[in-house]
Amino acid sequence: MEAVYLMGRDVWGDGCTKTEYLRQCRESRKYRRGRWHVLADSDGALMCSVIAYLLPRLAGRVTLGLGSVATPLALRGRGYASQALKCLMSGYRQYCRVEVFLLFADIELRFYQRLGFMPLPEAVQSYGDAVGMAYCAPDLWEEILRAAAEQPPGYF
Ligand SMILES: CC(C)(COP(=O)(O)OP(=O)(O)OC[C@H]1O[C@@H](n2cnc3c(N)ncnc32)[C@H](O)[C@@H]1OP(=O)(O)O)[C@@H](O)C(=O)NCCC(=O)NCCS
Repeated sequence: MEAVYLMGRDVWGDGCTKTEYLRQCRESRKYRRGRWHVLADSDGALMCSVIAYLLPRLAGRVTLGLGSVATPLALRGRGYASQALKCLMSGYRQYCRVEVFLLFADIELRFYQRLGFMPLPEAVQSYGDAVGMAYCAPDLWEEILRAAAEQPPGYF
């Protein structure tokens, strides 16, 4: 888990030491609540990590939250995060009947838009600077927006 936690330290480390950062990660209730997934090569080297949370259903559809997407600094720009997210979403769709994926983006939206995510409307945005985005089949989008308007997804 230390290798997983350290992937995003340059962005989320807030200038604290490695030891302190790892302590915070180990004690994070948020990190314990989710299920971590990694993209690894055939030798087991870790290339990307993502955390997933099973969320309350939206419009009765199984809904998964994704977060803390990170690739080690030296390995960025090679498509690993895109590949990790595509594989993860495909697996969850196939094996867990997930129909809606939510995330809060704190990077430029185009990275997630390329993977098919769309920003939720302003009225549904519930968390500071991070932009809530969703992915679902096109024919579900209206239904999901109505459900999100009734019960805006909270930050996870
Ligand atoms: C964002 C991140 C996960 C992308 O990982 P990656 O393995 O390099 O991703 P990919 O190679 O699949 O895609 C790279 C694309 O991401 C884009 N990207 C990277 N950082 C970005 C940022 N801050 N804002 C927008 N796009 C970004 C790159 O510009 C690149 O686009 P390009 O192909 O047009 O040049 C990685 O930069 C990272 O770990 N960042 C630190 C943690 C973080 O901010 N995570 C996102 C939380 S919402």
